[in-house]
Amino acid sequence: MSYFLSPKKILFGKNMLRRLGAEIEGRGTKAALITDKNMVKLSNELVEAVKAAGYEVKIWDGAEPEPSTAGAIEAGKLLKEFKPQLVIGFGGGSVLDTAKAAWVLYENDEIAPEEIITVNVKTKLAAQKKARFMTVPTTSGTGSDVTWAIVLADKAEHRKVGFANTEIVPDITLLVPEFTAGMPKALTASTGLDVLGHALDGYTARQQTDFSDGLCLQAMKLAFEWLPKAYADGQDMTAREKMQNAATIAGLGFGNSNTSLCHALAHTLGATFSIPHGRSVGLALPYSLEYISTNPPIEGAPDPVERLATSARFAGIKAGSDKEAVKQLIQKLRDLSKQTGEPSSLKEAGVTEQQMNDNIDTLVALASKDINMYSSPCECKDDKLRQLFLDMWQGK
Ligand SMILES: NC(=O)c1ccc[n+]([C@@H]2O[C@H](COP(=O)([O-])OP(=O)(O)OC[C@H]3O[C@@H](n4cnc5c(N)ncnc54)[C@H](O)[C@@H]3O)[C@@H](O)[C@H]2O)c1
Ligand SMILES: [Fe+2]
Repeated sequence: MSYFLSPKKILFGKNMLRRLGAEIEGRGTKAALITDKNMVKLSNELVEAVKAAGYEVKIWDGAEPEPSTAGAIEAGKLLKEFKPQLVIGFGGGSVLDTAKAAWVLYENDEIAPEEIITVNVKTKLAAQKKARFMTVPTTSGTGSDVTWAIVLADKAEHRKVGFANTEIVPDITLLVPEFTAGMPKALTASTGLDVLGHALDGYTARQQTDFSDGLCLQAMKLAFEWLPKAYADGQDMTAREKMQNAATIAGLGFGNSNTSLCHALAHTLGATFSIPHGRSVGLALPYSLEYISTNPPIEGAPDPVERLATSARFAGIKAGSDKEAVKQLIQKLRDLSKQTGEPSSLKEAGVTEQQMNDNIDTLVALASKDINMYSSPCECKDDKLRQLFLDMWQGK
């Protein structure tokens, strides 16, 4: 990476909804809120704040979890008909990715809706001409509220496709911790592990830079400290706020570096066994870190052992050698997973031996083609991938 991208403004802290009006007043008369059936029930306060700023608000609540292109196409159609000057994504990563893709389709008539996943870094989008794009995350995990990436499932091919374009970065991100307070425990846990996956992938990826490093480290430290508290008491608003900050900071970190081996494995697990994203990341993380810390780095890649040892020490681990620090960091992740009730193997996550045998070739083929593989600091050939998936199933 040779640039740093972020939304023009990230609003965070107390009483944020009250401060929203000043940001959007006088910039339009129509706003579209893209959300899902769960979050629409919690959207009232946000909708009222946007209305009070002079907007007519149209709501589309058809986003699906782990979304495919279908929702984006439908929401994009609504935007083209309604012609808002403000597009708001309100929900978890699934909603935000759907909203991002719908907004891209609205901005650019030349992209055929069913071709949305072919958008890439070279596509000229001419975005932000018709509408400003605002994200309001309701999970503390994906960082999609600040990244310029979209992840959609290609249902026909049973794979998840991530694509990116620098024009996709949102204009405004609004963090309201109260919106995350209703997350069930398992969602708090899995999305929190996603934050750690972003931070540690981003810190060890081949594209890391001086600009992304500090963000990744800080996000990791916050998540280690505050995820157990947010998990133990969902109404602990300090913990909720810290986890929301951690998720968005990690988004800025990996968004300006990249996700890596852990996410290549996680996307493959998600697409093959329908395991939610954060849970797949939580499963893959210890294995991917063990792998990159015990295999030789590619020439010019950051040294994973040195990087992970730095991460460990930043998270408060006291260890003599770098190798020992990495070992303890991986153990700390395994302990956190256990403490937050997340599975430590695919077997525990409900994948049967039969399913594993039936799908192992597909898993290897999908992971080896996953775009995140190019960011891995170590090469991971098919035989090694196969072993990683088998170990993950067994819980080795
Ligand atoms: N674009 C990116 O940069 C990026 C990065 C990482 C992950 N992702 C993608 O994000 C998606 C996962 O997003 P996610 O982990 O945020 O989960 P999600 O958006 O899929 O939400 C999971 C479920 O939780 C519900 N939910 C959301 N917020 C809630 C709340 N506050 N209270 C109660 N229920 C709530 C949703 O309605 C949904 O049913 C995946 O598709 C993943 O690939 C994108
Ligand atoms: Fe992720």
